[in-house]
Amino acid sequence: MSGFAKRYSFRSGKVHDESCKTHNSGPLAIAACCVLFCLGIGLIIGFEAGRGGTGGQSRPWQQVRLPETLLPIHYDVELQVDVTAFTVVGQVNVTLRCATPTRHVILHSAELDIIGGDGTPGIQGSGDVIAPRITSWFLYTENQYLVLELDKALTKGAVYTVNLNFRGTLRDGLIGFYRSSYVNKDGQTRYLATTHMQPMGARLAFPCFDEPAFKATFTVTLVHRAGYTALANMPLENNVTRNDGWIADRFQRSVRMPTYLLAFVVSDYTSVGTVSSSGLETRIWARPAYIAAGMGDYGLDVAHKIVAYYEEYFDVPFPLPKIDHISIPDYSIGAMENWGLITYAESLLLYDARRPSASLKRGVAQIVAHELAHMWFGNLVTMEWWDGIWLNEGFASYVQYLGYGYVEPDVNVMEQFAYYRCQAVMEDDSLTSSRPIFQPVNHPDESREIFDSITYSKGASILRMLGNFVGESTFRKGLKSYLERNAYSNAVQDELWEALTLAARADGQTDLDVKTVMDTWTLQMGYPVVNLTRDYGRGTAQATQQHFLLDPTATVTVPSDFGYRWHIPLTYTTRGNSFDLPEQAWMRPDQDTSPVNLQGAGSDDWVLVNIHRVGYYRVNYDLTNWQLLTDYLNSDLYEEIPPDNRGTLIDDAFNLGRAGQLDLSTALDVTRYLVRERHFVPWSMAKAAMNYVETVFGSVNDLNDNWQAYMVQLISPFYNEVGWTLQQSDYNTEVGQVLAISTACTYGQPGCVNNATALFRRWMDTNNNSHIPETFKSTVYCTAIRYGGGPEWDFAWQRYLEGEPSEQSLLLSAMACSRDADILRSYLERSMDAAHVRRQSAPDVISYVGRSGVGKSLAWNFLVDNWDFYVENFDETQFTMASIVSSVTKQFSSQEDLDNLEQFLRDHPNQGTATRAFSQAVDTTGANLRFRRDNESKIRAWLDGLNRGN
Ligand SMILES: *[C@@H]1O[C@H](CO)[C@@H](O)[C@H](O)[C@H]1NC(C)=O
Ligand SMILES: *[C@@H]1O[C@H](CO)[C@@H](O)[C@H](O)[C@H]1NC(C)=O
Ligand SMILES: *[C@@H]1O[C@H](CO)[C@@H](O)[C@H](O)[C@H]1NC(C)=O
Ligand SMILES: *[C@@H]1O[C@H](CO)[C@@H](O)[C@H](O)[C@H]1NC(C)=O
Ligand SMILES: *[C@@H]1O[C@H](CO)[C@@H](O)[C@H](O)[C@H]1NC(C)=O
Ligand SMILES: [Zn+2]
Repeated sequence: MSGFAKRYSFRSGKVHDESCKTHNSGPLAIAACCVLFCLGIGLIIGFEAGRGGTGGQSRPWQQVRLPETLLPIHYDVELQVDVTAFTVVGQVNVTLRCATPTRHVILHSAELDIIGGDGTPGIQGSGDVIAPRITSWFLYTENQYLVLELDKALTKGAVYTVNLNFRGTLRDGLIGFYRSSYVNKDGQTRYLATTHMQPMGARLAFPCFDEPAFKATFTVTLVHRAGYTALANMPLENNVTRNDGWIADRFQRSVRMPTYLLAFVVSDYTSVGTVSSSGLETRIWARPAYIAAGMGDYGLDVAHKIVAYYEEYFDVPFPLPKIDHISIPDYSIGAMENWGLITYAESLLLYDARRPSASLKRGVAQIVAHELAHMWFGNLVTMEWWDGIWLNEGFASYVQYLGYGYVEPDVNVMEQFAYYRCQAVMEDDSLTSSRPIFQPVNHPDESREIFDSITYSKGASILRMLGNFVGESTFRKGLKSYLERNAYSNAVQDELWEALTLAARADGQTDLDVKTVMDTWTLQMGYPVVNLTRDYGRGTAQATQQHFLLDPTATVTVPSDFGYRWHIPLTYTTRGNSFDLPEQAWMRPDQDTSPVNLQGAGSDDWVLVNIHRVGYYRVNYDLTNWQLLTDYLNSDLYEEIPPDNRGTLIDDAFNLGRAGQLDLSTALDVTRYLVRERHFVPWSMAKAAMNYVETVFGSVNDLNDNWQAYMVQLISPFYNEVGWTLQQSDYNTEVGQVLAISTACTYGQPGCVNNATALFRRWMDTNNNSHIPETFKSTVYCTAIRYGGGPEWDFAWQRYLEGEPSEQSLLLSAMACSRDADILRSYLERSMDAAHVRRQSAPDVISYVGRSGVGKSLAWNFLVDNWDFYVENFDETQFTMASIVSSVTKQFSSQEDLDNLEQFLRDHPNQGTATRAFSQAVDTTGANLRFRRDNESKIRAWLDGLNRGN
């Protein structure tokens, strides 16, 4: 799913290790990284991008990419791990084939003590081959290489084995081979050893060819003390007890795979498991107390079903005999798809059925489905290089919906897609500071920059759109042939396009060229808005397209080969016609306008484009059609427009309003139908879009008060209908009820606030919260803390310190709901103390505080004052700094905010991995300012009109 690497500072000729820390930013993934700091004594050695630059022959280690002279075939790796002393003693024998004669063996190695290993590097030829002698060897830390120099060149085609011994530590960062811990029932701290390799962490565990195209097989031996269980990608082959009491667990030889998918865990965990009829073993591993409490059971149930489903969906069997899923207390991201040994953050894999929650179940099923999709997409077929990561991540982010839908058949999962996958990323992607989804990665360090919403959510959205226009059976046929052709190997996106084009041709779609279409979506940033202008007299319409930019004054400076025009698969329907089989039409980049046949829609019938929001674009209509749609939503028939399209109408209208392409009062008029709305998808989308009004006008008191009152008016019918009696009949009902309660409480509906506060008080009085349904907890906690004071907050803090992971993550967010500046300031200070708040959670605290009205300037000032703390701890994970900055600046909308930002940028010319986030923040703040200037009186008048009963 994602990963990161480490940072060097090169002072006085010595390599300083800085601990690499990251955090878990919830179900979204984070970043990859590796920043290279060359300071100090004079010489700064640059890098040469790509392979084969100048100097490649004489000093091949100066290339940032591995030379392709030697190709690894097989590794024998042995790691002896002392889980409590944090030491690792290792040995690796790597067998390789010489592809081009060379006098250098170059492989990655970082932070490993080769010198202190037991014996110097060695090399042998295979069979009759006589190996040259190793004359010297050294570490080239700039590129994290270990270089062996030979007296003669290796022979082309010959096979050699290189032996390396090394020592390392179980790191306290969250990458490579690292340690984690938890406190067991008896109050003892128990340590475990675990790994995170993606993208460049394997070199921290043992010397290896650490690039995704250097696939090989691996035989791993983990040596550990009694009382621990060792796990690796493959099942155990044998175990022996050595003289000195160590136990050596040797695992079966792996399939051909890249280094970033390796995983090793040594722990005192227990598991639950099952074996499928085809013999595939699935196990869930966690702290013994959690397994005993049944918290692995739901994960197990969905995991084994989803694998079986994917085997059928892809029509390609899963090649390993087992899959372990393991939850790790200290974990930087959501989960990682290591082949056969998937690692997760604890709160995302474990589910406590004693405290039911459809949304927590959804989280588990979705993430398991995501990681399992990678077993095919990413693991079996791997991107050639990190620039292709979007295909892995986008694919898994789309297919996870299919896997989740399979295990929860009562949930209409695809209607959630528009909200969870499209809405937020389309906001990011409408800024001029966005980027194309396919982005060259010249230096390995840049691989950290691409694990973002564009990679995941835009990737998922455009693959879904593609699946839709080629048709499901053609899509699956193309995927199968792509997977089979490239199995155990690597591929680039054009190979997928080709497989899909061939499948489409075989199915009779002779004029479709998938690459031509998809290049317009992957090689340029952004997306179009389609304008549909109807001719009501003739019953026809014309469609035009234009790059959608949220800020109407922004100018795009990055040129595009496609001129910011797209091949757009239009889908549309009219009143009374089908949403299941909508009309389809292509818009081509070279056509100024495309005629759209409205199939006889009358002048009183609305037209709706982009059915189920399958297309990655926005739609604008002429005002008459907007009026027809709005009237229909305000009628008893509104549910004939599906939920995802209802939400999209509000989202599009609001964003078009922000962009100056639709009068804001027209957008506001669409929202009035929400008094009828009872479905969580359109409601969630509406709230996300309408939240912009609070972002900009939250501090304009009279306007904000009227706005809050309007929101209460919209949600009250829904809230009064569902009340606080837990309804768990089905997913949508449960999530809808939670939405109604949380919306009512957020906007201060007095009954809601009283109920929430009473529930929290009872917890404080009895020290028992079993009367609060799990799904209401976040609303109850947040509301009670917002309307409460010191006692409520202190109580929450105590419960946080002793809570389980899922309770902790609820409280972490709720404690930021306080409106007391002193409390919030002390919360921010406590978040820097790793004794209380796990380091990975500190960024969440400042992000939560920054998102609240009161917290905005507090969080900003805190970030400025403690910039070094955040950089030191989180700069390695690009996404972390970026998400802190974008959360903290999200509400910026005044001249003062803009001045503060610009002052900061003058004071800190290097913003590290937050660079893009800062330029987005400047863009967004500027746009917010303009929006405020242009729309304040309009919104005020519109709200006043409502109050007058208009
Ligand atoms: C590596 O090779 C050496 C020499 O052949 C052998 O003694 C050692 O056991 C091997 N190590 C591993 C991990 O297979
Ligand atoms: C070796 O593995 C078996 C099967 O997993 C296990 O029952 C046994 O306890 C292990 N032996 C040692 C010494 O760990
Ligand atoms: C689409 O309509 C909006 C609003 O009328 C207008 O600003 C924009 O220029 C139009 N775009 C095209 C390509 O016609
Ligand atoms: C909510 O408040 C109402 C009235 O104040 C009360 O009748 C109801 O029992 C409360 N519900 C809960 C769950 O506390
Ligand atoms: C909390 O209350 C519930 C129900 O009243 C009870 O079953 C449970 O044992 C209590 N828990 C504790 C820790 O007292
Ligand atoms: Zn992933």
